[in-house]
Amino acid sequence: MATMGRNLNEVRVGDREFWEKGPPHELFREIREHCPVHWTNGISEFPGETGFWSVTTADDIHTVSRDWQTYSSERGGITAANAVFPIELVRAMFIGMDPPKHDRLKALFQAGFTPKRIAAHEEEIRQIVRSVLDRLEGRDECELVNEVAQPVVSRVIGSFMGIPEEDDGVWANLMNSILGASDPDLNPGGIDDAIQKGVPEIFERCNKLIAERRETPTDDLTSVLVHAEIDGEKLEEHEIVMGFFLLVAAGNDSTKATYSSGMRALMENPDQRRLLLDDPSLIPGAVEEALRMFPAFAHFRRTATRDTELNGQQIKEGDKVVMWYVSSGRDATRFEDPDRFDVLRNPEHQAFGAGGRHYCLGTALARLELKVLFEETLARYPNMELAGEAEAVESPFLNQLKCLPVRLGAA
Ligand code: HEM
Repeated sequence: MATMGRNLNEVRVGDREFWEKGPPHELFREIREHCPVHWTNGISEFPGETGFWSVTTADDIHTVSRDWQTYSSERGGITAANAVFPIELVRAMFIGMDPPKHDRLKALFQAGFTPKRIAAHEEEIRQIVRSVLDRLEGRDECELVNEVAQPVVSRVIGSFMGIPEEDDGVWANLMNSILGASDPDLNPGGIDDAIQKGVPEIFERCNKLIAERRETPTDDLTSVLVHAEIDGEKLEEHEIVMGFFLLVAAGNDSTKATYSSGMRALMENPDQRRLLLDDPSLIPGAVEEALRMFPAFAHFRRTATRDTELNGQQIKEGDKVVMWYVSSGRDATRFEDPDRFDVLRNPEHQAFGAGGRHYCLGTALARLELKVLFEETLARYPNMELAGEAEAVESPFLNQLKCLPVRLGAA
């Protein structure tokens, strides 16, 4: 099938060439229009890997996401390329499990994510954001990803989990090198190096913290996890460690990504920023619009457990099925003029997943963190401007900027 000189049958969606400057939105638009469930025949960077189905529309992602019996999180990996994360690591976290194992663990973890517990953190999050912004005092310019977003998200998840503040930098580096392992700037040693060095160090730090909380309970999440109980059942040590790993990874990268891309969109669309400055109660809607246009994870993946059909395509048992949230957020059948950043849109997006068992556990925390980050940044620097080229992480999985230089403007 050829469109605009491109043969979609031959396109390998996961290949690096398409992701050097962020997600290939034009390519996804063509795929949605011409073959919304699209077969990619292999991944050039990993020659041993099988290909995958790309699910690109909001309706089809909704179907896949809610049918865990047909589309398993446990059977294969959770990213298009198996090589990105070792399968044993994925299956040890509940994001890589199917029911009933998944449901038991998620229920125990949910004990730490009640709306009441999250809401109680608003003031603390605001203080964290303010103190990070305070460090910019007297400066004309800064780099928003590493000087604002990273220290804020690290400290928020760190304080939530009970990680000592002086360890924030170590955790952030470990997580960035493991999750962004395909990007040479984030991880010059390559994927294997990041995993071999990073994972044991992370486990060691987790074990220490867990032992301390067992001994002396506090009110942080690690303490909640150590002591959580459902029907007389508690979490085992390795389950806590793996959950801890999942939470710090998810909490570290995701919110940072949406904040940075959202701030860039506000600077590129001063009329939209003006709306928020005039009426800050619109900020939660702007958060949703940023999530729609810049979902932190470009995709998650399932594996078919049986032969099936999806939107007219025959899928075989064992096939990889990739849900592209970067595509469904711009599905024109759901969103009018989908490439326009519109803070009044209040979209129903799939950035946190499309429902079903694996729907993001951290939605309330992420939404609160993003709201406070936008509120405080806009209040302090209403005239912030772009001061150079933003750079995207080169990855078909992590949809985030690694560098966003800005001029702060008079406060
Ligand atoms: C902008 C912020 C965030 C985005 C866009 C996001 C996105 C997602 C997505 C798409 C999934 C589902 C994957 C699937 O269906 O397979 C997911 C799962 C998950 N997220 Fe988030 N996330 C965010 C923030 C957070 C935060 C702050 C935390 C926790 C501290 C968190 C914890 C989790 C966990 C534990 C899962 C696995 C749930 C399960 O498998 O049942 N996320 N997230």
